[in-house]
Amino acid sequence: MNSSTPRYSRIAGTGSYLPPRRVTNDDLAAQLAQRGLETSDAWIVERTGIRARHFAEPEVAASDLALHASLAALQSAGCTAADIDLIIVATSTPDMVFPSTATILQNKLGVHGCPAFDVQAVCSGFVYALTVADSMIRTGAARKALVVGSEVFSRILDFNDRTTCVLFGDGAGAVVLEASNEPGLVASELHADGRHLDILCTPGHVSGGAILGDPLLKMDGPAVFKLAVGVLEDVARSVLAKAGREASDIDFLIPHQANIRIMQSTARKLKLSADKVIVTVDEHGNTSAASIPLALDSAVRSGRIRRGDTLMLEGVGGGFTWGAVLLDF
Ligand code: ACO
Repeated sequence: MNSSTPRYSRIAGTGSYLPPRRVTNDDLAAQLAQRGLETSDAWIVERTGIRARHFAEPEVAASDLALHASLAALQSAGCTAADIDLIIVATSTPDMVFPSTATILQNKLGVHGCPAFDVQAVCSGFVYALTVADSMIRTGAARKALVVGSEVFSRILDFNDRTTCVLFGDGAGAVVLEASNEPGLVASELHADGRHLDILCTPGHVSGGAILGDPLLKMDGPAVFKLAVGVLEDVARSVLAKAGREASDIDFLIPHQANIRIMQSTARKLKLSADKVIVTVDEHGNTSAASIPLALDSAVRSGRIRRGDTLMLEGVGGGFTWGAVLLDF
């Protein structure tokens, strides 16, 4: 490591974007009733904590949502796209098979030349992307990274399956991560266990000009629930141990926003009171890789999270994948 290699990366600014169309549980229940499926606001709120989600219009792609969130993050960091030397987009609903959504975003930002690539770790995507960007900054490969989570999950929902289509939404969140001699990201950890790939997947693929297999999301909800609560506690404790900190040092937990009951269970296990958990699942639904940066930006803009706060970000999702990042904001 030479003297100019930074010891840390830190979040210089945050941004997010939700497409304007807000769909309440009642709206969705009315839509499903037309297909002969029964659901209700009461069932969805009680089982998940979700009251509404946002859906993008058909012509709007993940890169479009990412662009809005990125511009907000750049503004909040006090820089422009020209200052960025690395772009990572976490998404499982990319604009196309290739090129990556990150290169499409780069072009929409009007900058060219810096490395840009996607990370695919489903709902853990943002934590994965942040960890990769942090590593690249700490080795001197980049100094100012744009790290984005962006999803249009409405595209892969099966509206004939009431057990899944009520859970997800569209949106994007972004951060500018820059080289710093002060923390910053303190510790992180990533995991995957491909033995569980069948419990949460969208197995369809393109072959010979046709879609082979089912291109819509499939989930064994109870199996995902059980795995998620276990790994989220374990990875949080492991990251705290790496950082030499205690759970009581956490000012705010920002878990992946899938289900309020999973978040409450994690907080209880870590002995964190409810006011230390950032919750946006009620208004956003599960936006997969976008959920953590969306929740972070909402809490920063509302003034709840302030500079100097210690944050634990935790992702869990298809793969099965999971991970956590501890940072001083
Ligand atoms: N409306 C009304 N009833 C419903 C609905 C609905 N939308 N969906 C399911 N039900 C019914 C079921 O058919 C079942 O009826 P039955 O008892 O007559 O068979 C009953 O409700 C209970 O179903 P369960 O699946 O057992 O309900 P559960 O309490 O487990 O809640 C849920 C389901 C919300 C999906 C829960 O399991 C969960 O949140 N799992 C984790 C999901 C998650 O976190 N996913 C994201 C992971 S991140 C990623 O990578 C995408």
